[in-house]
Amino acid sequence: MDVKPVPGLEHLPFAEVWFHEIDETSWHEASRMARELGKTGLETWTTTRTPEVAAFLESRGYEEHRRYVVSELDVAAAPDPGAPEWPLVTYADRPDLADQLYALARVGHADQPGRAGTTFGEDWFEWGLRARPADSYFIALDGDRVLGYGYLQDDDGKWSHGFTTVARDARGRGIAGAIKRAQIAWARQHGIATLKTATEVRLAGMRDLNDRFGYRRLYDEIALRGPAA
Ligand SMILES: CC(C)(COP(=O)(O)OP(=O)(O)OC[C@H]1O[C@@H](n2cnc3c(N)ncnc32)[C@H](O)[C@@H]1OP(=O)(O)O)[C@@H](O)C(=O)NCCC(=O)NCCS
Repeated sequence: MDVKPVPGLEHLPFAEVWFHEIDETSWHEASRMARELGKTGLETWTTTRTPEVAAFLESRGYEEHRRYVVSELDVAAAPDPGAPEWPLVTYADRPDLADQLYALARVGHADQPGRAGTTFGEDWFEWGLRARPADSYFIALDGDRVLGYGYLQDDDGKWSHGFTTVARDARGRGIAGAIKRAQIAWARQHGIATLKTATEVRLAGMRDLNDRFGYRRLYDEIALRGPAA
């Protein structure tokens, strides 16, 4: 069982753990490991494919904190979403933008629904940048200013949308939509079969965009928080 401080939110009194099944023994074991880390609560992850897990936790005082709609696009079968209406470059073209991307990442990660207070350091340059395929790491620019970025991730041939964010003063102008259009076009050009995405339920615009582009809802991932046993 992997029980650890919540990534980026290590200051919270919760330890993170996944449950695809649950019983008293595993819940108590996770709770014991959380207390060893100095935590008094758990942030438990589960999915709607195993609804009995959330029911077990809710009956013990846990409450849903975040929910991500996991959906998938059949790239070849999907209608063409159109060309991005914003000038985009990639990190492969513009490695000189790394510091601006880092500055935006630090704002954007904390602006996600339910993730206020998220912090991280320069290890981001590895997990948030260099570990991602550079030619599908799309960046929206206004002159030389980075307005937004979004990358794809490849897990053993299974492709998904990674993190996307747009500068606060540039939101609501279609930049995330342009990045997603570029990502879909890139996937099509590279013969990628499917693109998965996980979208927090409160991101109404992105969920609507996914529906319009033809992503099909598969299941939801749910993060519940509550007291350790
Ligand atoms: C989520 C986020 C990336 C969206 O970026 P954005 O540039 O403001 O998004 P857009 O303006 O492109 O809007 C996306 C689409 O939703 C549509 N839209 C916006 N608000 C909408 C609403 N309330 N209902 C329906 N559609 C809406 C837009 O028209 C656009 O579609 P289009 O390209 O076809 O026009 C941005 O708010 C952000 O950085 N948030 C913090 C980080 C985060 O939560 N990232 C997501 C996790 S991966």
